Amino acid sequence: MKNVKLDISKAGVEITPEMEAKAQAANALLHSGKGAGNDFLGWIHLPSSITEADLDAIEAEAAKLRARADVVICIGIGGSYLGAKAVLEAMSNPFELLHKEHRNPTVLFAGQNISEDYTAELLEAVKEHSIAAIVISKSGTTTEPAIAFRLIKAEIERRYGKQGAAERIVAVTDKARGALKTLATKEGYPTFVIPDDVGGRFSVLTPVGLLPLAVAGVDVRALVRGAQEMEKATSEEVPFAGNPSAIYAVVRNLLYQGGKKIEILGSYEPRLQYINEWWKQLYGESEGKEGKGIFPASVTLTADLHSMGQYIQQGEREMFETIISVAQPAAKVVIESDPENLDGLNYLAGKRISEVNRMAELGVQLAHVDGGVPNLRVEIPAVTAEVIGSLLYFFEKACGISGYLLGVNPFDQPGVEAYKKNMFALLEKPGYEEATKAIKARL
Ligand code: PA5
Repeated sequence: MKNVKLDISKAGVEITPEMEAKAQAANALLHSGKGAGNDFLGWIHLPSSITEADLDAIEAEAAKLRARADVVICIGIGGSYLGAKAVLEAMSNPFELLHKEHRNPTVLFAGQNISEDYTAELLEAVKEHSIAAIVISKSGTTTEPAIAFRLIKAEIERRYGKQGAAERIVAVTDKARGALKTLATKEGYPTFVIPDDVGGRFSVLTPVGLLPLAVAGVDVRALVRGAQEMEKATSEEVPFAGNPSAIYAVVRNLLYQGGKKIEILGSYEPRLQYINEWWKQLYGESEGKEGKGIFPASVTLTADLHSMGQYIQQGEREMFETIISVAQPAAKVVIESDPENLDGLNYLAGKRISEVNRMAELGVQLAHVDGGVPNLRVEIPAVTAEVIGSLLYFFEKACGISGYLLGVNPFDQPGVEAYKKNMFALLEKPGYEEATKAIKARL
């Protein structure tokens, strides 16, 4: 598959015919819709089911928000946040705000934490800017985005009135259920639907991800095209040897069976840092249950070689590493020669920075393999919207197969309720009276 190539030559595992057959069966089970969590399989054919009309509607709404606001605040958490954030970071120039012609509007995020300082600073920062908001919540009841939305909605209404707010707020939520759906209907906000059968962490290619990205000017058509290509490349008809998602799923499960309990996803391109965060949610929520699952961790390199590198090289031997390796940088920077050579770097003169980065990557790979850290490489040709679309779907499909190989339901997340019960009890939410008494006695 041209957009994503998997190199497992340094993973140190041998894929047996039995494992191969298991992976093919897991992929077939996903496609049959008969496995665990089968009411959340809408993501499998999501890329190919996105129509021209869907993309037109998203782009039309995005154009309205772009025309009305300098800053669009995207409110959501977990799967209703990380996909858009990851793709936006990957596609953005980190120094954009210093450019005169910077991306307009600026897309900011809220509701992904309950920090008072973050909220105050955000509201302060947008004071002099025209604003709009996209509020995203599948359940429509998640506390963090609900609090942020209450404050941002009030600010928008103060500035533009109720009517103006209805032109500046878009909701992305369930088609019928939840407080956000009720509120959006009552206030007359344009609304996009998150399909019932697509869970939060698999929803980046629904309006959850596509609308904020279109607002930010990302080529969502290319993103979807890339995902469509990967959908084909990982379908159940594809033989195991040609299916990168199936191979990745098998290798990580073999490593897990061999005692590797931690997978570190890393990249030598800092713009991919939030792809790591998106991936951590995808794999952590999908596989971490019933006392099982690889712990998903991440590093950004080479920065983290100067912090986590020591541990990876010589700490507990429980981990393996998956590197997203970018073949081609978009820019060209050559290291200059210096007649004085006081820094001793003239041996690098004439080389591109990417050559140094590549040698760091190859050197680290061998060092870590020698140190007992198996290495997988996910090679992508460049960071473009199309390639990122393929990469996202590659990881999603692998996650489904991997979860079935592990023997869990990869599409639920019962564990995330525990903290909510305690938080609601501590906040004395109506209906939690008994729990409030019990938890206060424990403090
Ligand atoms: O993957 C998931 O289901 C979760 O991470 C959710 O996306 C997250 O909890 C936010 O939920 P909601 O979109 O209902 O506000």
